[in-house]
Amino acid sequence: MNLLEAMQQRHSVRAYKDQPLDGEAVAALRQAVADCNRDNGLHFQLLVNEPEAFQANKPSYGNFKNCKNYLALVAPKGADEQVGYYGEKLTLIAQTLGINSCWVALTYKKGKADVQVSAGEKLYMVIALGYGETQGAAHKVKSIADVSDADDDAPQWYKDGLNAALLAPTAINQQKFRFTRNGDTVTAKAGLGFYTKVDLGIVKYHFELGAGKENFKFA
Ligand SMILES: Cc1cc2nc3c(=O)[nH]c(=O)nc-3n(C[C@H](O)[C@H](O)[C@H](O)COP(=O)(O)O)c2cc1C
Repeated sequence: MNLLEAMQQRHSVRAYKDQPLDGEAVAALRQAVADCNRDNGLHFQLLVNEPEAFQANKPSYGNFKNCKNYLALVAPKGADEQVGYYGEKLTLIAQTLGINSCWVALTYKKGKADVQVSAGEKLYMVIALGYGETQGAAHKVKSIADVSDADDDAPQWYKDGLNAALLAPTAINQQKFRFTRNGDTVTAKAGLGFYTKVDLGIVKYHFELGAGKENFKFA
């Protein structure tokens, strides 16, 4: 499975099998996280077999079941868009390794998350990881016209990028973003709402995968 296929197959999964992550998959994910942190000044941390943040041993807690693994998105303050962009990159890498996921800003016990946060940083949110009881289901999507200036004559790469952006996870599936194009220069803006700057980073990563980096540049 490549990243484009992973993007099409990924859906939020909140109920996991009681099954530890495969050792080789964990090693690959750890390496991807380390590369991402080194190249971008982030402090993301992969927690494996840590039941507290999602109260995995209390079946009645919250809307998650059996979640014992997560990626803690710790980064410098003001890095919301980067958190979205690189968090989604790692989410899709996890999907290629057969690991399901869900972005989680609110519905976990933040105080129980076993993470290191240095001066000037914060824990933005986490991404739950595990082998899903199911593969999840497609979310309702807006249309290209709702989120962009694209008309029928728009280049194919732009339409492909927008369709990819519409597959992106956003907080409460709000899809509050807007794309505009001038030649091969694309502008993407976040709307008003909770977590829309993180959403914007996620959506830009998807757009780039769908459109092909070689076809455009972000303004
Ligand atoms: C920034 C962000 C925060 C989210 N926070 C939560 C959360 O606190 N709890 C939860 O159950 N889902 C959360 N989600 C998952 C969204 O509800 C989900 O991505 C959206 O409904 C689209 O569905 P999909 O991921 O299956 O495409 C969050 C998603 C994003 C991108």
